[in-house]
Amino acid sequence: MTTIMRAMTVEDILKTRISTRAFLDKPVSEEQVREILDIARWSPSGGNLQPWTVHVVMGGGLTRLLDIVGKKITENPTEDESEINIYPPKLEDPWRTRRYQLGEEMYEKLGIARDNKMGRLARFAKNYEFFDAPVGMFFSLNRRFDKGQWAHLGMFMLSIALTAEEKGLATCMQEAWTARAKTVSDFLNIPETDQLYCGMAMGYADKAAKVNELRSSRVSVDDFATFITK
Ligand SMILES: Cc1cc2nc3c(=O)[nH]c(=O)nc-3n(C[C@H](O)[C@H](O)[C@H](O)COP(=O)(O)O)c2cc1C
Repeated sequence: MTTIMRAMTVEDILKTRISTRAFLDKPVSEEQVREILDIARWSPSGGNLQPWTVHVVMGGGLTRLLDIVGKKITENPTEDESEINIYPPKLEDPWRTRRYQLGEEMYEKLGIARDNKMGRLARFAKNYEFFDAPVGMFFSLNRRFDKGQWAHLGMFMLSIALTAEEKGLATCMQEAWTARAKTVSDFLNIPETDQLYCGMAMGYADKAAKVNELRSSRVSVDDFATFITK
């Protein structure tokens, strides 16, 4: 008997992709990453500017970067090299509650209590190891660009995440890297004209890891959409 496998639809991929925060020690080749980028480059952008720049770190490059970042964090764990406010300084509701809920759900999966500040800090620091993923990516933009191009970069990043999912790989976008933007930019030789935005971990998901059981919630369509029909 032959089993016919149905290809994943866009809906399947959108609904199965999650932010993966634990990866297997299983290599991903440069060819695999190139293929994903080769597909994601068909993302739209206003005026077809294709404003994005990507740096991929893997193999020896990744080891060297994580070594430098690790030393920096040991020297100064709370240093913040951010130029970008990831969230508004005073996050209000409903967004504040959504963020809080995500954090609580994630730390619950990890069994790290709210009063375990050190435990939560140590866990957050896993961001700076790409959660052990074999591939890390960094996205940057020319500083001349305005909000439109930032939105287009976001579309491109999602295309990468969805394509990776289709290819059996998992990802986690990581704004946490903004806190180490200077260190990373120096390492990658990103010119002063460009601004580092976000990182992305990529690799094979560790399906046995509790943290990867987290399926974050979403508000319903009527919470964000208005239909004007008359
Ligand atoms: C641009 C962007 C940056 C993110 N940065 C981080 C990050 O630094 N660390 C992290 O653990 N998750 C990060 N996330 C993951 C979000 O928390 C996650 O997308 C959200 O909670 C929805 O969950 P899901 O991706 O599993 O569907 C980021 C997501 C996006 C889109």
